[in-house]
Amino acid sequence: MGKLQIINYQGVTCAMAMVKMFGARLKVCVYVVDGLLVDTGPSRFAREFTSFFSNRWINQVVLTHYHEDHSGNAPWLEKQGVSIYIHPSSIPICQKKAELPIYRHYFWGRRDEFSPLALPDVVDTENGRWQVIESPGHCFDHVTLFNPEIGALFTGDLVVTPKTKLVLRTENVPQIIDSLRRLLQYDFRTVYCGHAGVVEKGREFIQAKLDYLENLQGEVLKMYREGRSLREINKKFFPKLAPLTIVSGGEWASAHMVGSLIKDRK
Ligand SMILES: [Fe+2]
Repeated sequence: MGKLQIINYQGVTCAMAMVKMFGARLKVCVYVVDGLLVDTGPSRFAREFTSFFSNRWINQVVLTHYHEDHSGNAPWLEKQGVSIYIHPSSIPICQKKAELPIYRHYFWGRRDEFSPLALPDVVDTENGRWQVIESPGHCFDHVTLFNPEIGALFTGDLVVTPKTKLVLRTENVPQIIDSLRRLLQYDFRTVYCGHAGVVEKGREFIQAKLDYLENLQGEVLKMYREGRSLREINKKFFPKLAPLTIVSGGEWASAHMVGSLIKDRK
């Protein structure tokens, strides 16, 4: 498994694990700032993350969303007596052991049941205050944390990469666009992403994703209005079939991006 990579940036500690996926490397990041842990990492790296947590002062945990790569070590933290918060809409999901498709179980490990508390509108730490911004789209319960004093945003899985080619079947791309627009209204510099790590030019990172998705949305809807099928539109923008689409049995696909841009448009 290897060790976690630890980075300190402007008072925030980032602990990062690396996963190999079809030759590509994917990072998974959790953050600790002022006793607050943002996301817990997947249980596949339970040994590494729990050893990291044991050596830090952590008195509360906020999950940006319920996915197993963010919540996998939450049951362990709960057993240590740490309060865990999540958007109220996904509390019932967390209270049951996750039934994951085999490939997700393989990538991230199991996610046992735990009982998080409802995330309030603001999270107070000893020296700061974090505003909770609802930022759905990647999933329904997704939140972003914002600290105006240090100009920081914890964005979970909302951004990850500016040029997204694949999304989950359940993602709502127009909602992602709305959430990105909402975040850009706040005065921040640094983005702490669940997979990209610390992004110093956070505003540019979010703007790049918004520009890309807005442009794609315009092109997709233009073709759709011209009577082109979803299949044709998908083929034009995403001609190659991604290995993850095959491995995930279609749970991750570019066709879901195109489909959502059409189906979920206002
Ligand atoms: Fe996620």
